[in-house]
Amino acid sequence: MAAVRNGVQGRLAKKLHIKTFGCQMNVYDSSRMADVLAPLGYELSDHVEEADMVIVNTCHIREKAAEKLYSELGRYRQVKEARTGGGEATVIAVAGCVAQAEGAEIMNRAPFVDIVVGPQAYHQLPELVARAARAKDEKKGGKRKGSGVLAIDFPAESKFDQLPPVRHQGPTAFLSVQEGCDKFCTFCVVPYTRGAEYSRPADEVVAEARELAAAGAREITLLGQNVNAYHGVDAGGKAVGLGELIRRLADVDGISRIRYTTSHPIDMSDELIAAHRDVDALMPFLHLPVQSGSDRILARMNRHHDMSLYCRVVEKLMTARPDMKLSSDFIVGFPGETDADFQATLELAREVEFIQAFSFKYSARLGTPGALMDNQVPEDVKSERLAVLQDVLTGNQAAFNRSCVDRVMPVLLDRKGRKQGQLAGRSPYLQPVHVDAPDSRFGQIVDLRIVAGHENSLAGELPADGTAPSLERVVA
Ligand code: 5AD
Ligand code: SF4
Repeated sequence: MAAVRNGVQGRLAKKLHIKTFGCQMNVYDSSRMADVLAPLGYELSDHVEEADMVIVNTCHIREKAAEKLYSELGRYRQVKEARTGGGEATVIAVAGCVAQAEGAEIMNRAPFVDIVVGPQAYHQLPELVARAARAKDEKKGGKRKGSGVLAIDFPAESKFDQLPPVRHQGPTAFLSVQEGCDKFCTFCVVPYTRGAEYSRPADEVVAEARELAAAGAREITLLGQNVNAYHGVDAGGKAVGLGELIRRLADVDGISRIRYTTSHPIDMSDELIAAHRDVDALMPFLHLPVQSGSDRILARMNRHHDMSLYCRVVEKLMTARPDMKLSSDFIVGFPGETDADFQATLELAREVEFIQAFSFKYSARLGTPGALMDNQVPEDVKSERLAVLQDVLTGNQAAFNRSCVDRVMPVLLDRKGRKQGQLAGRSPYLQPVHVDAPDSRFGQIVDLRIVAGHENSLAGELPADGTAPSLERVVA
């Protein structure tokens, strides 16, 4: 369960195992579920065999989500049976977007599941655990057939008002500021599984950032499905956009680096772009999904923008912060995508220097308009296009990584390296960097000389102590 890094101390030391699929929002949710369950005595464990409770936090964004879930559940069923044989109980919960989308179906197909809980309802987990225990007793007593408890409504109260304070450890942290989406891209399940757009109050976000900083976080990544649509208010009732929120967070003692993800091109407001110009702590790296380079496909995707808007936003960002670099998401084989449309995407990938990118074959999602569109693209065509696009994108990434060699980059060392005596961290551009360094450097932002640029990572060297970096510095 590498996804959740918080150590949770339990009073009764029951073991909680969480398996996380999907995006950073799910990683954040998993850690918050651990926080919610900590007062009940649950402490995190990597070992499923000893778990008193198992949570599978699922992702529904692309195909095979359900298959993955049921194969995972098969494993947990065996654990449950083995432990029941030994007189111990295991609670199995399914959380996340598949839980939201498939709800009762999961109970039918996997009746040994005790709890199904959606992304907006997991603050209720303590109550759900108690209800599941009661339901089990009632089932034993013959009072009910199944014993599963389902919580997939979108509750009127925000879960953020109900969650306990964060329990965080480590130099990097996620902070959820916004959730849900009202944009309804025709390929995407998020508006259905995560619900309507919601922004947390600004002061609550700043307070959480202070707690994270006090617990050692130096870098925070603000999360939201549409994070740059953030529109909070502060205690004085003043509207706060993401740019202003970032300015306030940059003032929090201890926070040296700020990132945010995932953004939509139409919400890159001038106010936010100005924050990129003014706020040093805001990293010069932005994930800005484009999905397709063809205006025709963007319209069919209901992306609310065309290529010229996207390119204008990129230009404004580069003007505001000349060392800015971008990453993106692409979908190939959206219904109706012709060879010419795909060529436009390729052209975009060649023209804009994306230093990192995620590219996917379109996967029809039940309940989304795209799934019902004519001209679905055959699987083999999707695969061919994906391979061609990925070739260009990985080439861009490798070229950028190579161009970093001999430069000096500030790297936040937030992990142990794979080899003995190594630490690893992230450059301003989120490139993983490995370096031979003593443990005393853990948690520090260190200027490293980059000595090798691989396809997916960099190798760095500590400058001799006391020497100022003599080479070109990539980011101030
Ligand atoms: N098929 C393929 N890719 C998808 N994404 C979202 N929905 C789908 C889908 N149905 C991709 C988009 C999005 C990223 C998180 O996942 O590129 O930006
Ligand atoms: Fe999905 Fe589009 Fe909303 Fe992003 S903006 S979460 S792709 S519907």
